[in-house]
Amino acid sequence: MEKNKLNKLIESASNAYKNAHAPYSKFNVGASLIDENGNIYNGCNVENAAYPSGSCAEEQAIGNMIVNGGKIIKEILIIGKSDELLTPCGACRQRIREFCDETTKIHICHISNGLQKSFTIGTLLPYSFGPENL
Ligand code: THU
Repeated sequence: MEKNKLNKLIESASNAYKNAHAPYSKFNVGASLIDENGNIYNGCNVENAAYPSGSCAEEQAIGNMIVNGGKIIKEILIIGKSDELLTPCGACRQRIREFCDETTKIHICHISNGLQKSFTIGTLLPYSFGPENL
């Protein structure tokens, strides 16, 4: 990916990361994505005292894209502080699947160390079920 675009996505996801509401897990996550029009949206995890009511950073970023008229995720970036690669949870892989294609890049970043690895949905969610199955 173009360095400038990557930096913008990192900046946007980092801002979201700082605002995460994660008092229970203490595991802040930020996400950002770029849509088919070049617009960037972000999101953070929003936890809840009733634990299952919490939501993931990717979920928020996708919701922000949709509410603003975006249709396709061209690239999505997830950022956190984890020692392990912070790949999206199963539910978020499916959420990303709904709005991406086989070329969409899913970038995993560390808040201090930057880009760690990039995936496509085919790797993270092989043989997936999607809109064209209906
Ligand atoms: N979380 C995300 O926001 N995105 C991920 O890809 C993995 C997990 C959040 C959910 C919860 O608030 C916290 O991280 C710990 O699971």
